[in-house]
Amino acid sequence: MSEKINDEENNGIDGSVRSPYTSYTEYLEEDAKDVPDFLMEESNEFLGSEDIPIDRYTSKEFFQKEAESMWTRVWQFACRVEDIPEVGDSLVYDILDYSFIIVRSDKDTIKGYYNSCLHRGRKLKTERGFGKDIECPFHGFCWNLDGSLKHTPAPWDFPHVKAEEWNLPEVRVDTWQGFVFINMDDNAIPLLEYLDPLPEHHERWDLADCKKVIHVSKVVPGNWKTVQEAFMEAFHATKIHPEILPFQADENSRYDHYGDHMNRNLALVGKPGPHCWPVDEQEILDTIFYGSGRVFDEDKTLVPDGQEARKIAAEKMREAFSATDGHDYSDKSDAEMLDALVYNVFPNFSPWGGFPRNLIYRFRPNGNRHDSAIMEAIFLQRNHKDPKKQEPYEPIPIHYLDEDQNWDDAEELTGIGLIFDQDMSNIPEVEAGIRASKKGKLTYANYQESRLRHFHKTIDKYIAKGPHKP
Ligand code: FES
Ligand SMILES: [Fe+2]
Repeated sequence: MSEKINDEENNGIDGSVRSPYTSYTEYLEEDAKDVPDFLMEESNEFLGSEDIPIDRYTSKEFFQKEAESMWTRVWQFACRVEDIPEVGDSLVYDILDYSFIIVRSDKDTIKGYYNSCLHRGRKLKTERGFGKDIECPFHGFCWNLDGSLKHTPAPWDFPHVKAEEWNLPEVRVDTWQGFVFINMDDNAIPLLEYLDPLPEHHERWDLADCKKVIHVSKVVPGNWKTVQEAFMEAFHATKIHPEILPFQADENSRYDHYGDHMNRNLALVGKPGPHCWPVDEQEILDTIFYGSGRVFDEDKTLVPDGQEARKIAAEKMREAFSATDGHDYSDKSDAEMLDALVYNVFPNFSPWGGFPRNLIYRFRPNGNRHDSAIMEAIFLQRNHKDPKKQEPYEPIPIHYLDEDQNWDDAEELTGIGLIFDQDMSNIPEVEAGIRASKKGKLTYANYQESRLRHFHKTIDKYIAKGPHKP
């Protein structure tokens, strides 16, 4: 038990009490390698314990407030730079009723345009594309990649269209570590300030040196927050993912939040959760290798007497990833090779940290629906250290799953699809249950659900600003 954070006298009413089991920080102190300071340091100010009204999930009115005051002001992950590698490559990012074309307008420039023709408003593009210009399929008004008007059909009939006034309206675009973001608010703070301190933490993991290898998108019948919040705490594992308890120390997890826009959950891999049945180190190792999708162990590694599965698994990961991508992981911590370092950026972007294939989540409303969401899972693969050994990269298609399909139908996700499906099976029942509530409110845990409360507080800050019309 960590004395510095547990204060028995006030019975935890001020949020100071932590799980009585070994904390994530205490486990980090046993790491085989040096652990970066930013992983050791805790950041969890008590955010209160008031109940949360359920209308934040169920009401169209609250959804509308989020739409007009929050989504129109925040930085949103739109795509990866490798989605549009060549000049003229473009793709579409939709949020609510808004739609944007993200286009590589020259070698070093990515621009974003409101995806609406200035003539009669047709969407200029509906999907990924390539072209030397942007032509509307309805009557053929056409723009250059830099947004300037290129062609007017029947120009004799449009003497009132002045080319210099007919640039495609732009949305703010900025990039960080290969992620392209948009923001509909011209007065929003710069992206790097918004993300702070994420860039400092991720500097070491450098996701700019990675490329997207898997992208699966699924429609989920639930409010976008219901879906996202299923991935923002670890203690549901006991009931929803019992098979991972031998290797996932769920209740021991760390929850940190920073400023308004960033929080994280650090969940240890390689020690059993406190509610797991008795397991030995061999069982732990086997479940990491065969139950987590982290690395496949063809050697059937045995844990020698007196040794720990966590350390053996971490070493196996260092070797396996080094063999794959040529990078040297010999001094990288067990935590960075194994653990679920789940970062979230408000409102809906979640880039995991660490060195193995990084998992990225994105959650957003399905169009204008408060009761349906889109969840995406993206994997990034690190480039080979030797440029001569890097495979030529072709942008990968998005694999779309509808509401009736399972994550596990996407074979490229291997074992993790089954874990997502466990979360998915729960979501309709959460949605139905909160609507059936007599209490009308939800009660979050002070610590383990502090990240949910953190983001709800930030939603309130945006709503307090009032509507923003892009
Ligand atoms: S609506 Fe686009 S050219 Fe007519
Ligand atoms: Fe889960």
